Amino acid sequence: MSQLTLLTRSGEFDVPVELNQTVVTIAKKHKVVWGHACERGVCAQCRTLVMEGAEYLNEPTKEEKLRLRKAERTEGFRLGCQIQIVQDGPVKLAHRPY
Ligand code: FES
Repeated sequence: MSQLTLLTRSGEFDVPVELNQTVVTIAKKHKVVWGHACERGVCAQCRTLVMEGAEYLNEPTKEEKLRLRKAERTEGFRLGCQIQIVQDGPVKLAHRPY
């Protein structure tokens, strides 16, 4: 499996890619602090900038389309509780809450 790199205010964490799990779930499993409250695409505390590997991720969900502005989505912002890696490949994500 490839590497998932998680960038947070506390530093950079490399964890193995896990398919079909949300980024919030993977971060929790590895005790990486990735702010979240609702896990339903509402609070945006899990706002995430996709820095590398967008092609390995699921398509943005309906919740992300409702919660994030189109301009943000164009810049590569998503929600960590909605992102899933669906194909093995290196992915780099940064936690960027408002
Ligand atoms: S945890 Fe609330 S939007 Fe992701």
